Amino acid sequence: MLRLRHPLVLLLLPITLTILLLHFASSPPPSSPTPQPVPCGAALSDATDGRWVPTPSPAPPPLYSASCPFHRNAWNCLRNGRPQLAALSWAPTRCGGAVVPRIDAAGFLAAARGRRIGLVGDSLSENLVVALLCALRSSDDGARKWKRRGAWRGGYFPREDVVVAYHRAVLLAKYTWQPVEKSKELQKDGVKGYYRVDIDIPADDWVNVTKFYDVLIFNTGHWWDTYKFPKETPLVFYKGGKPIEPPLGIHEGLKVVLKSMASYIEREVPRKTLKLWRTQSPRHFYGGEWDHNGSCVSDRLLEEHELNHWFDPMFGGVNKEARMVNSEIKEAIAGTDIQLLNLTYMSEFRADAHPAIWLGKKDAVAVYGQDCMHWCLPGVPDTWVDILAAQILHYLKKGKG
Ligand SMILES: *[C@@H]1O[C@H](CO)[C@@H](O)[C@H](O)[C@H]1NC(C)=O
Ligand SMILES: *[C@@H]1O[C@H](CO)[C@@H](O)[C@H](O)[C@H]1NC(C)=O
Ligand SMILES: *[C@@H]1O[C@H](CO)[C@@H](O)[C@H](O)[C@H]1NC(C)=O
Repeated sequence: MLRLRHPLVLLLLPITLTILLLHFASSPPPSSPTPQPVPCGAALSDATDGRWVPTPSPAPPPLYSASCPFHRNAWNCLRNGRPQLAALSWAPTRCGGAVVPRIDAAGFLAAARGRRIGLVGDSLSENLVVALLCALRSSDDGARKWKRRGAWRGGYFPREDVVVAYHRAVLLAKYTWQPVEKSKELQKDGVKGYYRVDIDIPADDWVNVTKFYDVLIFNTGHWWDTYKFPKETPLVFYKGGKPIEPPLGIHEGLKVVLKSMASYIEREVPRKTLKLWRTQSPRHFYGGEWDHNGSCVSDRLLEEHELNHWFDPMFGGVNKEARMVNSEIKEAIAGTDIQLLNLTYMSEFRADAHPAIWLGKKDAVAVYGQDCMHWCLPGVPDTWVDILAAQILHYLKKGKG
């Protein structure tokens, strides 16, 4: 009807189109597009400057529940009886009051079509990958477990042909158990054997996937501790197949391994691969270490002014190692093409969000103490996912030019 009543519209349309075409023909060539604003969450500084706020309503529906098949039982706090965490979102200062949006799983998979995303490191990388797998599955029912090429845990998303997987390599470098023979003198000090760490050789779990992934996210740090490697079963560092002399302590060993792995990654992983190195996840043991009744049964977030007291090594607190390890990480990757994904600060606030006593196994707390290190899922790693996804999307869009 419109066409009959207003023939003028028909007349004007071609004129308007011509004007528009002329306009675009005279605009700058496509090789110099106006820079797009970086979406909230996609700037590296978005993780390191901001605060937690109640999730603005209407809160988006949860992307996954306790029944996600990629879940790991020990982190499934809802199933293990912990009341739901408060709904909080991370508001980077740069975003002027907006919060990092929840990952758009369908949009993310579509943008990542045919791509592969790999995480390599310790259980804090696994904590992150579980959150990512469960989020992505919300938009692809056909998702199935994928454990090829040495992956410890992973998923394949057939609709867009996307792989997301985690390779367990707690020290990143290769390490192997060397029992001490009965006659050897080492045994006199109660040494049962040692772990040989080849500082220049990546662990078998990821040595052959450096060219397989389009995005690689590394971490190590939470195992570099005399709890994991006491003096009866210490780490002994090797380079070029020979023991390093004089022997390195665990902290010196961490430094050389970080440096050597960072340069290996820079050398062996193609330049076009997005390389991220995530920082330490802070622990929140209160009142003692994990084996001294340290606790995190709390629903209170830390205040900004409390953070230094909890985490600055200067105060020698129980949870100081995250920031100490972080400064080694930063130094090791300086000058490489690996980007620092600094998730520590935002996580330091979240004393409320660990599995604590809700571990899903009857004697777990008695045997291992509370878990004030990993995170409940759903929980804080979902925000890590949102930031990571924003950064990966931004990278993919830039790459497509
Ligand atoms: C991570 O971000 C926090 C907060 O901005 C900062 O204090 C810390 O130095 C950063 N860590 C590293 C290793 O850059
Ligand atoms: C990695 O690949 C090389 C070359 O194909 C092979 O010799 C080696 O056994 C592989 N290592 C592992 C741990 O799969
Ligand atoms: C932990 O608490 C229990 C019960 O209060 C106590 O018996 C035990 O000695 C404590 N353990 C440590 C290592 O402090």
